[in-house]
Amino acid sequence: MKIFLDTAEVDKIKRFAALGVVDGVTTNPTIILKSGRKQKEVIREICKIVDGPVSVEGVEGKAEGMVKDGEEYASWAKNVVVKVPMTEEGLKAVRILAKKGIKTNVTLVFSPAQALLVAKAGAYIVSPFLGRLDDVGEEGMELVRQTVAIYKSYGYKTSVLAASIRSPLHVVQAALAGADISTVPADVLEKMYRHPFTDAGIRKFKDDWESAKKIK
Ligand code: G3P
Repeated sequence: MKIFLDTAEVDKIKRFAALGVVDGVTTNPTIILKSGRKQKEVIREICKIVDGPVSVEGVEGKAEGMVKDGEEYASWAKNVVVKVPMTEEGLKAVRILAKKGIKTNVTLVFSPAQALLVAKAGAYIVSPFLGRLDDVGEEGMELVRQTVAIYKSYGYKTSVLAASIRSPLHVVQAALAGADISTVPADVLEKMYRHPFTDAGIRKFKDDWESAKKIK
């Protein structure tokens, strides 16, 4: 499974890219706001750090505007993927952008029926938002499972990207469900490699190493 970083904070992207575990990046207007930087400038910098897909999102409501924005975003770097919302206008934009050779990531997907339409429209990526479903008492992971099952049954090429991830457990469950990609906030990625037993084991080996040096 590919791992994308769900952040536009360049220092964090550089830090984790150095580990060789970052296959792409996803952003949205909230993430851009958190970065405190201008969208175009920060996206161009991210695209130089990461070779894989970098999702960029606007707020246009009409297909025409989404296509215009999408063409602009795609001109920033060759690995830009244009995020569009899961609406009728969004699906229309997916089809037009696909014909122009521009890849799309359909965002704010909350049902398998929506996910089916996303694949049929020809999107490159579908983003089921599992954490936000969990927040309202639904099982977000079930949406990922059902989307993966539907796409597998019919051979749809659209990649399933588990989004709105809140914990390492979400990442593991998304991998077991067969998601192609999980996009994770930087703090979740950090929690994925940390384990108290690893730290305790390192301390013990270090102490024993020091004791072993005293053997005559
Ligand atoms: O990339 C979009 C998605 O991952 C947002 O997550 O935490 O705002 O629900 P969240």
